[in-house]
Amino acid sequence: MTAQLIDGNALAANIRGEVATRVAALQARGVQPALAVILVGDNAASQVYVKHKVADCEGVGMRSILDRLPADLSEAALLARIRALNADPTVHGILVQLPLPSHIDASKVIATIAPAKDVDGFHVASAGALTIGQPGFKPCTPYGCMRMLQAAGVDPRGKHAVVVGRSNIVGKPMALMLLQANATVTVCHSATPDLGAFTRQADILVAAVGRRNTITAGMVKPGAVVIDVGMNRNEAGKLCGDVDFEGVRQVAGWITPVPGGVGPMTRAMLLVNTLEAAEATAG
Ligand code: GUN
Repeated sequence: MTAQLIDGNALAANIRGEVATRVAALQARGVQPALAVILVGDNAASQVYVKHKVADCEGVGMRSILDRLPADLSEAALLARIRALNADPTVHGILVQLPLPSHIDASKVIATIAPAKDVDGFHVASAGALTIGQPGFKPCTPYGCMRMLQAAGVDPRGKHAVVVGRSNIVGKPMALMLLQANATVTVCHSATPDLGAFTRQADILVAAVGRRNTITAGMVKPGAVVIDVGMNRNEAGKLCGDVDFEGVRQVAGWITPVPGGVGPMTRAMLLVNTLEAAEATAG
C-alpha cells in the first residue's frame, strides 16, 4: 500500500476561492484589501517568490504594492518606508522579503512592522501571541501545514508529532501550533543524535530541515502522516523536499509532495492573513 497524497495545489486553489469570495464581500463594503511587498536587492530566488506573491494577490482581487528597493538602501531608509506603510490605512499587510542585505538588521526591520499588518507572522508580538495561545498572525508555512493535516482528516490530539527543524519561520511555530492542537510534540534539530529513533515514533512527522533525503523510509512509522517543508534541488536541478518521497510513500499513510505540497499552501495562507488583516480594519 502506498501513502495517500495531500495535494497542496488543489487545497490552495480551494482556499484562494474562499479568499476571493471574502475579498469581494469587503469590496462591496468599500474596502480593497492590499498587501505591500518589499524586496531589497536582487536575490534571484526572492525575485521569483515576490513575483508569485504579487500574482497571487491579483488572482483573488487584492491590491498589491511592490517596492523594489536597491541593495545599497540604508537601514534607516527601509525603516522609514515601513513606517509610512504602517501609517497608510489603504495598506493592510506588509511583507519584507528575506533574506535582507547583510548591512540591514532583519530583526529591527521586522520589529518596525505594525503587528496588525504583520501578515508573515514574524513580529515578536505575533510569535508571543502564538506561544501563549492568543489570537495573532501565524507564520504562513506552518499555518498551511495545519490546514493540510485538517484536509487529510488528521486531528493532532493525542498524537505524537515530531518536528525536524527549529527555525523561527517554520520549526518553532509548527511545534507550537501542534501543541495548541493537543499533540505531544518533539522538536529535533541538527544536534539531535540518532534522528531516526525520534522520527520512528512520529504519528505526524514534519520535515523542515533544508537538506534532501534527510527522512528515509526506515525513519518513518508505518501509516504516519509526513509533511515535507523542504525546498531543495537534486543533482539534476529538480525541485525536491527533505523527504525521500519514493521510499517514504511506501511506508507512510499520508504524504505531501514537493513540488505541489507545502509551497502553494504557504502562498495561500499569506492571502488568508492579508484578508483577515483587512477584515479586522473593516470592523
Ligand atoms: N524568505 C523565504 N521565505 C520567506 C517568507 O515566508 N517570508 C518572507 N518575508 N521572506 C521569506
